[in-house]
Amino acid sequence: MNIIDNITNTYKEKFGYAPAHIARAPGRVNLLGEHVDYNDGFVLPAAIDRATYVAFSPTNERHSTLWAADLDQQASFALDTLSSKTQADSSPLPEWALYPAGVMDVLHKEGLGALNIHAVFSSNVPQGSGLSSSASIEMAFAIAWQTLGGWTLPPMKRALLGQKAENKYVGVNCGIMDQFASACGVENKLLLLDCRSLEWETLSLPQNVSIVIADTTVRRKLTSGEYNKRRDACEEAVRLLKVDLPNIKSLRDVSVDDFNRLANKLPKEVEKRARHVVEEIGRSNQAEALLEAGDIQNFGKLMNECHVSLRDLYEVSCPELNVMANIAQTLDGCYGARLTGAGFGGCTVNLVAKESVESFAQALAKGYESETGLRPEIYISHASNGAELIK
Ligand code: GLA
Repeated sequence: MNIIDNITNTYKEKFGYAPAHIARAPGRVNLLGEHVDYNDGFVLPAAIDRATYVAFSPTNERHSTLWAADLDQQASFALDTLSSKTQADSSPLPEWALYPAGVMDVLHKEGLGALNIHAVFSSNVPQGSGLSSSASIEMAFAIAWQTLGGWTLPPMKRALLGQKAENKYVGVNCGIMDQFASACGVENKLLLLDCRSLEWETLSLPQNVSIVIADTTVRRKLTSGEYNKRRDACEEAVRLLKVDLPNIKSLRDVSVDDFNRLANKLPKEVEKRARHVVEEIGRSNQAEALLEAGDIQNFGKLMNECHVSLRDLYEVSCPELNVMANIAQTLDGCYGARLTGAGFGGCTVNLVAKESVESFAQALAKGYESETGLRPEIYISHASNGAELIK
């Protein structure tokens, strides 16, 4: 059964009537510019053809009731239980419910109506895989509440509110990339976002190149703590570099030359983290010209360099991601391969010549399984549109 039929049927079973609407919001994959969004850098994600789907209707009940079909779990919350993060029966909200509850909380604080709802949702964005399952949940529920609330926000504004929900309510100090890509995705296009000005444009890959996603099946642990620590290190670097470069606001403002000159003034670990960011912003700065020239060879090299930097300087890789990227980089037709998203597990993103995709996927799966004993999931990804109401 497809995912839409599945949530529709589950909805009827749980609530006894058919849902009024269905919203969809995609996950994302990022090609270049990793861990730079919260440093005002440039990112190059695409919304993918895997998404979270929410079937929903308004309700006059005192609480919203949500059913997570993938987990077979229910949660309930209302405006007056949001601050305590509890349910109708006073038990704590389960972790997964913090994302929709956080969206309701920010919408309410913005003065936007967020009515109580009945909802059933399901996602084929694998959780904890670096493909932004959380942002896709936030953006799908933002569409749900927009549909019922009688207000309309531009996609970027919904993305910013989703980020705020995650920062302030869930407690992950994430940047804007994931919610942006989920809200603003464009079919068949990469999205180049300037995370400082929030200006963005679309770019294309050559027709004969595919994006292949390879899931190590290893899931992140303790991510939010490690993620927030990386962000703190970047802020510490800015604070220390300001002594010599008083005009900088973020690592975006530090050139590679200035960084090299001043690097020895930073504690070793802070230096490594900041060096990744400064150099990665330099790499992502080249993306547009390379893609416009159709120079996938050199674009792929930057992806490979990005992986090394995330592994050795930012230290957000893991053995399985390294095995997956290393094997891919040796295979015919592969231009570049690296971990995508926050890291610590999850997926790699690979740029592969279309004619080699099948042999690439087979050889990668075989090589990865024989080195790790794990069976990966490998699929060709098509860039999709952003979050939308589909019924
Ligand atoms: C997570 C965050 C994003 C971004 C990436 C790393 O996906 O949600 O904001 O920082 O990690 O690039």
